[in-house]
Amino acid sequence: MAWKTLDDMELSGKRVLTRVDINVPVENGVVTDATRINRIAPTVQDIIQRGGLPILLAHFGRPKGHRVPELSLQALVPSLEAAFNVPVMFAAECAGPAAEAASAAMQAGQVLLLENTRFEPGEEQNDADLAKGMAKLGDIYCNDAFSAAHRAHASTEALARELPACAGRLMQAELSALETALGQPDRPVVAVVGGAKVSTKLDLLGNLVAKVDHLVIGGGMANTFLAAQGLDVGKSLCEHDMAETAQQILVKAEAAGCQVVLPSDVVVARAFKAGAANETVAADACPPDAMILDAGSATVTRIETVFRGAKTLIWNGPLGAFEIEPFDRATNAAAATAAALSRDGALTSVAGGGDTVAALNKANAAADFTYISTAGGAFLEWMEGKDLPGVAALG
Ligand code: 3PG
Repeated sequence: MAWKTLDDMELSGKRVLTRVDINVPVENGVVTDATRINRIAPTVQDIIQRGGLPILLAHFGRPKGHRVPELSLQALVPSLEAAFNVPVMFAAECAGPAAEAASAAMQAGQVLLLENTRFEPGEEQNDADLAKGMAKLGDIYCNDAFSAAHRAHASTEALARELPACAGRLMQAELSALETALGQPDRPVVAVVGGAKVSTKLDLLGNLVAKVDHLVIGGGMANTFLAAQGLDVGKSLCEHDMAETAQQILVKAEAAGCQVVLPSDVVVARAFKAGAANETVAADACPPDAMILDAGSATVTRIETVFRGAKTLIWNGPLGAFEIEPFDRATNAAAATAAALSRDGALTSVAGGGDTVAALNKANAAADFTYISTAGGAFLEWMEGKDLPGVAALG
């Protein structure tokens, strides 16, 4: 890796300004999924064990430069204390005199959490003055927020130029998993790309067909590809105006030797609701009054065969309307096969993206995947082949 890690830094007695992503889901004041908090614990604990003082910088929600009390990070203090098992102090700003006083008052063995960086208008503007104000609080900058690294913000980008900078443990793990999956992967490589719309994943599809051996397309976006091939998709979610683009992707895939797997059979229903009456038909036989809500069993069998022949799998997006049963079947079955192959050591599997992780959790498959990214947008942008500003700034 071209950047430094915590191993390259002398931490004893140093204030380590650590950018984390604790943008976790909260309902009625309760954290409903603490994964992101738990995954930064090794970095925080490592800094403490080596005599450093971790000062956490993070955003929460999208307050857009305003102080929004419901988006104060103070509410997360108990969850952080539970995850790190040390006292967590809080400062009501992320730069300025109160933050400087809190930083100066820190004791060994404590963590200091600073207020939501996005309360500051300068954060999203990648403002150099705000970064300088933050830099006053620490001696070292450690970025452990891979999932926010696609944002060029003051706390993820400009700040890296103000202090000696390094990657945290989670950042290292994320980058090394992605490198294994798409940088220097064991071949054959299969990518699963699902989700509603081709238009939101154009760059992704364009990049992947040049890099992977098999591309499985699922979810609503598969309908656009079927329609582009002249099939009637009835009332299905479909971007008819993307037909030409879909065809270009197929041509590019063929030229690159990438085999695209589209549904050969589909599960159709007349209503988008749980338990709706449904039937499985050939992909070219969707009734005009029906919509495609999942891939059929023959398609799943084909996907599983591709998985069995592959060494590496990268997965983003569900294969069907996984939120409503029984239209989660294709996603569940394919996920279970990928999980079993990963458990046996036959497949290296990496997955990321909010919906994807929810779908794999629902399928009880996530625990057996080789690596589950904490990132949504950043995972996607990395798979699109883009440089992430927060990672680039560490170089
Ligand atoms: C995320 O939740 O994916 C990250 O925290 C980034 O959040 P954002 O999309 O509001 O920048």
